[in-house]
Amino acid sequence: MLRTDELIQKLSSTGSLEENEYAQLIKDYSEANAEKLKTLADAKRREIYGNEIFIRGLIEVSNICRNDCIYCGIRRSNRNCDRYRLTPEEILACANSGYELGFRTFVMQGGEDPFFTDEVLESIIKEIKSRHPDCAVTLSMGERSDESYQRLFDAGADRYLLRHETASKEHYGKLHPQEMSYENRMRCLRSLRRIGYQVGCGFMVGSPYQTEIEMAKDLKFIEEFRPDMCGIGPFIPHKDTPFRDEEAGSAELTCYLLSIIRLIYPRILLPATTALGTADGMGREKGILAGANVIMPNLSPVSVRKKYELYDNKICTGEEAAECVNCLKGRITRIGFKIVTDRGDIRKE
Ligand code: SAM
Ligand code: FES
Repeated sequence: MLRTDELIQKLSSTGSLEENEYAQLIKDYSEANAEKLKTLADAKRREIYGNEIFIRGLIEVSNICRNDCIYCGIRRSNRNCDRYRLTPEEILACANSGYELGFRTFVMQGGEDPFFTDEVLESIIKEIKSRHPDCAVTLSMGERSDESYQRLFDAGADRYLLRHETASKEHYGKLHPQEMSYENRMRCLRSLRRIGYQVGCGFMVGSPYQTEIEMAKDLKFIEEFRPDMCGIGPFIPHKDTPFRDEEAGSAELTCYLLSIIRLIYPRILLPATTALGTADGMGREKGILAGANVIMPNLSPVSVRKKYELYDNKICTGEEAAECVNCLKGRITRIGFKIVTDRGDIRKE
């Protein structure tokens, strides 16, 4: 068995470990090891992206969802959730104001709301692309058919975020109701890739029943799938879900994993997520220092921000988009990085 130092060396020079080696590296978490991984990850990221941080304007289009993911605050069984849906006009207005603030990527994210048919999404995507041809449109609208993904791509969508949630079928079954399946999640990711989207996967750190074995499978999956983007953030319980009393995931371990993922695939686009900023007041700064190079400020109207509550105490629900951007610019500058006005595509060799 390799010593931890040797594992870190192997990961940094080859971008690959065996599954049991990933598990060992996670088990061997210590501040000193986190520091070593962070230094290596930072150097790799700087070789490709310098000190530039990409921003994505997040538009939370609806909290209406046909799914019942056990961890999620907007699951259909949550009767206390105050439901809303933005109109296409409101979504376009968010994109317009985001453009003025320097955003060149818009992310439409929401529950699996039947209102957002292919026709509705196609017309919104086409309108955003015609008003802002220099921008990328990212969708994060959950599981859909291959045909639907194709239509949305043809309408102009560039990227799709669909976290795999866990690369263990058994673990997937513990986080989701029976009618959802690991196979379908993976079918969606393969389909998105085949169609030509830039694809993002990802998982929650510290979700219920997750051990280093499951996280090692996630890392191996990322190594093999080589997503263009990967969203990871700590699991945070929501008071109106069956996981209300579960422990939250840790910001430290999330940062440790961000460094590992940067070393697995140095070009990857890696956000320092809102959940990381919620788990730790300095989480987003720590995430960037650990190897992340993307942040996703909220462009949703302030009136709906609190309603898109996936977990308790979500940050940035009271600020207007412009205030969020200014706050983040300050935070990022103070740690020696800079936010750029750029589509922020993955830089391929
Ligand atoms: N419906 C779309 C989907 O399934 O991809 C997008 C919205 S979904 C709410 C976005 C992500 O939020 C999920 O992939 C999940 O990883 C994350 N999430 C949900 N509940 C969470 C919680 N309690 N703590 C942290 N992250 C959570
Ligand atoms: Fe649908 Fe969370 S259960 S978005």
